[in-house]
Amino acid sequence: MSSPVEITLNVNGHDYALRLAPRVTLLDAIRDGCGLTGTHMGCEHGVCGACTVLVDGEPVRACLMFAVQAEGAAIRTVEGLANGDELHALQEAFIAHHGVQCGFCTPGFLMLAAATLEREPEIADDELLDVLSSNLCRCTGYQNIVAAVRAAFVQLREGKPLSALEGGEGGAHRDAMGG
Ligand code: FES
Ligand code: FES
Repeated sequence: MSSPVEITLNVNGHDYALRLAPRVTLLDAIRDGCGLTGTHMGCEHGVCGACTVLVDGEPVRACLMFAVQAEGAAIRTVEGLANGDELHALQEAFIAHHGVQCGFCTPGFLMLAAATLEREPEIADDELLDVLSSNLCRCTGYQNIVAAVRAAFVQLREGKPLSALEGGEGGAHRDAMGG
């Protein structure tokens, strides 16, 4: 068995000093090491997308990445999506459009949508659907999830500031919205 290593992970703008085995996944490091349990573990082999976080702005399946590989990167989780008590437009849209059923997949969808919004705010509807198809919802309530993401994209395109996407501690922990 490999000896533990000491690493620092930067998550939502905060440094976490961790001591862990090199084989520990980024997902386990975020949940168990950093105590940020908003990122969920589903399949644990890269299929469901429940564990999606952003690593230097790219959506990553945290169950497929070793924590040591993420050292030095800016990691963002669902806890960092809100700006203090102000939910991100995507989170508000999930509530407004009933995009949360059991909520287990919600953090992954939110982070995937946030990354897409930052990279391609003008993305066409069919392409957005293609992007979202990479994540699974066991409740199969996809229509409301897609409607919520589309609504947030339209709202933000029409002028709402994107400031909440740029980090923040995330004080609003409402169940699937990151708590
Ligand atoms: S838990 Fe990582 S993709 Fe399913
Ligand atoms: S809301 Fe239940 S798995 Fe997605």
